[in-house]
Amino acid sequence: MHNAAFNALGLNWRYVAFEVDPKNLRTAIEGARAMNFVGLNLTVPHKLLAVDMVDELDESSKIFGAVNTIKFEKAKGKVRAIGFTTDAEGIKISLREDLELKLRGASVLLLGAGGAGRTAALKLAMEKVSELFLVNRTQGKAEELAREIKKRFPSVKISTSYPGTKVDLILNATSLGLRPGDALPLDLKRFSFSQTRTVYDMIYRPAETLLLAVARRAGCKTANGLGMLLHQGAKAFKIWTGKTPPVGIMRAALERNIYGH
Ligand code: ATR
Repeated sequence: MHNAAFNALGLNWRYVAFEVDPKNLRTAIEGARAMNFVGLNLTVPHKLLAVDMVDELDESSKIFGAVNTIKFEKAKGKVRAIGFTTDAEGIKISLREDLELKLRGASVLLLGAGGAGRTAALKLAMEKVSELFLVNRTQGKAEELAREIKKRFPSVKISTSYPGTKVDLILNATSLGLRPGDALPLDLKRFSFSQTRTVYDMIYRPAETLLLAVARRAGCKTANGLGMLLHQGAKAFKIWTGKTPPVGIMRAALERNIYGH
């Protein structure tokens, strides 16, 4: 998506993927700085490690305690590495665009309390959802995250069990659904699809997970995580280039590369 966007804007830039062993992350970042890279994206498990490897954390990175985007900035003969995270904004924009869902005042059943679940939970709380139900296979992790939310966003009602009533959204942030044959990430004995209007799955490959297929057949509006991937990338593009990202071109490139159409 980035190369398509660079082409569209006539920038002689390239986006290239490198596989970096976590033990070499600091060296890799320093190498990119030395070679005058414009910036970097980082993914799991580097997002958390990089927090201690940049010169400055933008507000977004401070809030989420993670870095998925680095921008190298030249100032007074030095190159500074600034860390950002664009994942959370990606979630918010995609939910609005793909499900027409406004987070303020919404009630949400969030599945998963790993890295992606934590970012989603913090963002939902920041956006002032009314109520958050956090469900995770390992209950202790859901409770730990609930404690963090309670402390940082006391106005959000939060529990670590299935809702007894209707919710506006189910958001899957677990990895269940990535592999063929994976079970549903929620327990249908405890919660039914008639209790929600919309279902979002952060997974984008396969395009329709079992969760989304079952929800769609039950009449729910559904969306996969492609929009989240797109918008975190669009935000990173804006940070690096200072230019408005050509979002339509970026989406088309993603669809072509991921789904082959
Ligand atoms: P990510 O950074 O993608 O969020 P992660 O931090 O490893 O990755 O989190 C994976 C999430 O998927 C967790 O919520 C995990 O549940 P646990 O905290 O209990 O491990 C969830 N998950 C993974 N495999 C699962 C399975 N087979 N059944 C239920 N939940 C699962």
